[in-house]
Amino acid sequence: MLERHVTLRDGEKVLFRPLRPEDVRLYPDFLAEVTHEDLRLRFFAAMREISEELLDKLIHYDPAHAMAFVAIDEDSGKLLGVVRLHDDKDDVNGEFAILLRSQLKGHGLGWLMMKHMIAYAKERGLKTVQGQVLAENATMLTMCGELGFHITDDAERGVKHVTLPLDEVPTEELH
Ligand SMILES: CC(C)(COP(=O)(O)OP(=O)(O)OC[C@H]1O[C@@H](n2cnc3c(N)ncnc32)[C@H](O)[C@@H]1OP(=O)(O)O)[C@@H](O)C(=O)NCCC(=O)NCCS
Repeated sequence: MLERHVTLRDGEKVLFRPLRPEDVRLYPDFLAEVTHEDLRLRFFAAMREISEELLDKLIHYDPAHAMAFVAIDEDSGKLLGVVRLHDDKDDVNGEFAILLRSQLKGHGLGWLMMKHMIAYAKERGLKTVQGQVLAENATMLTMCGELGFHITDDAERGVKHVTLPLDEVPTEELH
């Protein structure tokens, strides 16, 4: 459930597993391969790099109320992407965020990571998985639509709220 081996369309073998504190050493190489635009789409703010303080927060999440899965290239050991899920204070709904190595976009990895995170959320008994997506992030919005998320507008903030009621997701579709 926590770990899964997948093969991308181009044959690349990838392991999904929970992020561990020692993965901090994989981040500099990963972040060097993430464009400023992708950082903006993920963090909603222009940033040239991730501060040490933010990195520390991303690595040392509270496992009682959050989960982060990393995608590791099984040949090189490189970090390819991270998907996170942070529960609300009642542990009923989870808020996700996802970021991939920019060159790998469009290879099907994001889709598989989202499915892995959704399966985990359903298994944990959460009611919904939710996220905020910038209105111009067409790839992510299309993907969310195909995954069954309901999408609503927050035009004032330029974002869309995406919500997936987990009881609408058949378990067999997640494997
Ligand atoms: C958004 C992001 C996670 C998407 O991941 P990705 O690996 O590029 O996307 P994928 O290749 O898995 O999927 C993209 C496409 O395949 C479709 N798709 C992929 N696998 C599929 C499958 N097995 N079945 C059906 N559709 C599939 C998607 O709908 C989409 O369609 P398109 O390529 O025709 O537009 C990634 O681009 C990213 O990290 N972006 C920057 C950060 C960001 O935007 N984060 C989101 C904010 S929370």
